[in-house]
Amino acid sequence: MIKIRALSKSFKGQKVLDELDLDIPESKITVVIGPSGTGKSVLLKHIVGLMKPDSGNITINGNDITAMDEVELNKVRKNFGVCFQDAALFDSMNVGENVGFPFVIHTDYPRERIHDEVAALLKEVGLSGIEEKMPSQLSGGMRKRVGLARALAMKPKCLFFDEPTSGLDPVISRAIDMLIRQVQNKTGSTSLVISHDIEGAFALADYMAMIYRGRIVFQGSPEDFKNTEDPLVKQFIHGYVEGPINPIE
Ligand SMILES: Nc1ncnc2c1ncn2[C@@H]1O[C@H](COP(=O)(O)OP(=O)(O)O)[C@@H](O)[C@H]1O
Ligand SMILES: [Mg+2]
Repeated sequence: MIKIRALSKSFKGQKVLDELDLDIPESKITVVIGPSGTGKSVLLKHIVGLMKPDSGNITINGNDITAMDEVELNKVRKNFGVCFQDAALFDSMNVGENVGFPFVIHTDYPRERIHDEVAALLKEVGLSGIEEKMPSQLSGGMRKRVGLARALAMKPKCLFFDEPTSGLDPVISRAIDMLIRQVQNKTGSTSLVISHDIEGAFALADYMAMIYRGRIVFQGSPEDFKNTEDPLVKQFIHGYVEGPINPIE
């Protein structure tokens, strides 16, 4: 479904993605794990067309994202739901306006229809009736849920999450993981979750890949990750200080 081939990207001579290859299977949840600063967010920004690679390509259902101009990208982006790390809500808009924003951009629905769609989306993420609240009045977990509601607005075929549980306590994190799973089961969308939360990754993933220094160093089922002797994977998932990953690098 999503094929990433030899994707490379450098910033000021620093190689962040280094000929990265990855296939993201259709209608499953794939979790990409890896240490901080290894290019996870940069990878996601390439997949949704917010960044262009130096070389390599990404095809989604056979269409090369990296070759598209803004007009073409806007068409395919209707099929994407993206939840960025900080929820990326518009602080000057209330919750209802935030969740309704994709309808304003992509549809000509009348106000009442948007109102009803927003109510249904908020219900889906367990937050009925908070349309009038401002983002600043919400807890971290609620902000993530509102971000998810907005991402689901256009019934996307692909859902992308960058660190959906970062900054949340373990209980709320598992609740967000369950919500992602529930949404995936209901919609059958192809989901990609970027995470450094190992427990969450194992709880959520159908398929996993580990990124390190701009490359995919291991991929497989959660079982494969638990059973491997690969020193990078073992160090990362157990949090060992000793090993090939230098924690103070
Ligand atoms: N727009 C940018 N300009 C310059 N450097 C960037 C940019 N975005 C990311 N980087 C660098 O790329 C590296 C990987 O970043 P990122 O993908 O955000 O890591 P993470 O795996 O923690 O998500 C970091 O060293 C970061 O400083
Ligand atoms: Mg990141």
